[in-house]
Amino acid sequence: MIEQKVELGSRSYGIHIGEGAFEESLKTFGRIAAGGRKIFCVADNAVLKAHPHTEAALKKTACLIPIFGGERTKCFEKLAEICSLLARAGADRKSVLAAFGGGVVGDLSGFAAAVYMRGIEFYQIPTTLLAMVDSSVGGKTGINIAEGKNLVGAFHQPSGVFADTSFLSTLPQREFAAGMAEVIKCAVLGDAKMFDFLESLEAPLSPRDANLSEAVRLSCKLKAEVVAADERETSSSGGRALLNLGHTFGHAVENCAGYGNYLHGEAVAMGMVVAAMLSQKLGLISSEDVQRIESVIQKNRLPVRLREPLDVDAMVSAMSHDKKSACGKLKFVLINSIGKTSTDFADMRVVREVLEEFVRR
Ligand code: GLY
Repeated sequence: MIEQKVELGSRSYGIHIGEGAFEESLKTFGRIAAGGRKIFCVADNAVLKAHPHTEAALKKTACLIPIFGGERTKCFEKLAEICSLLARAGADRKSVLAAFGGGVVGDLSGFAAAVYMRGIEFYQIPTTLLAMVDSSVGGKTGINIAEGKNLVGAFHQPSGVFADTSFLSTLPQREFAAGMAEVIKCAVLGDAKMFDFLESLEAPLSPRDANLSEAVRLSCKLKAEVVAADERETSSSGGRALLNLGHTFGHAVENCAGYGNYLHGEAVAMGMVVAAMLSQKLGLISSEDVQRIESVIQKNRLPVRLREPLDVDAMVSAMSHDKKSACGKLKFVLINSIGKTSTDFADMRVVREVLEEFVRR
């Protein structure tokens, strides 16, 4: 097991990565419980079932709140239900909330921890690759409303993250691949050596691969550095917004194809291809670089083109409604070279041309 620190002054915390991280979370909860504090753990039912030993292990120190995953669970009703459960079970300001599951469980429980009694301590035990390398790190929490995904939320950093890669063995292959999109994103946006490492692998990374913990660590390291430098995404250029590489186009794909048609990671993978094509069109990178990015994406069983064409007007309109647009203007994450990115406005005519090209592939 390895540890990666997120440096945020007095709110710094460790991300424990690899086999044994779950045991480490139990030790941490044991210490907290020994101090007389109550621990509550919102846990994904499916993960408890797939890994039966975890239920009894968590119950030793924590009161379990089992829930069903799925994007629809990230709603006000479920948030209210968790807060009521906490109140009825006597949770106080010193109590601790933990999330055991994927991004949905982490985002929802993190938001509950942010608002219950104006904020209680929070821990993350992510069990999907996507949650390990992205949503569990950095303190973004929230829920969806009818008007859009993640439109309501709060920044609430966890006190520790325990990413046990042994949970990934039961993750469906398609979901594992979707998580790899965020790993590849980290390499492209800020770590050329990591990209070389991913490029040098002959086969796609898989849950039992000895290289997986290293890929997760490098992704978390990159994310930790970006978050430490711009925790609340307030930087006027670059900063935390760089983590949105591929997301503006990806969200447009998800929105226009209908949520659920593509997994988030699949949409981000295609979004990265569009970002690469746009960067090439703007003269920042070469066609060889675009090809290299596409090859790593494809090697990891992710799509580089749409299954069915989408309407470009609808995509442009979805992009302008994205929550990342500000004052009606859209900034894009552009690739200056593999491992180096920046944010900038782009001429919408050029963006449209690139989208036309992409949907026709
Ligand atoms: N997933 C993007 C961020 O955490 O900022």
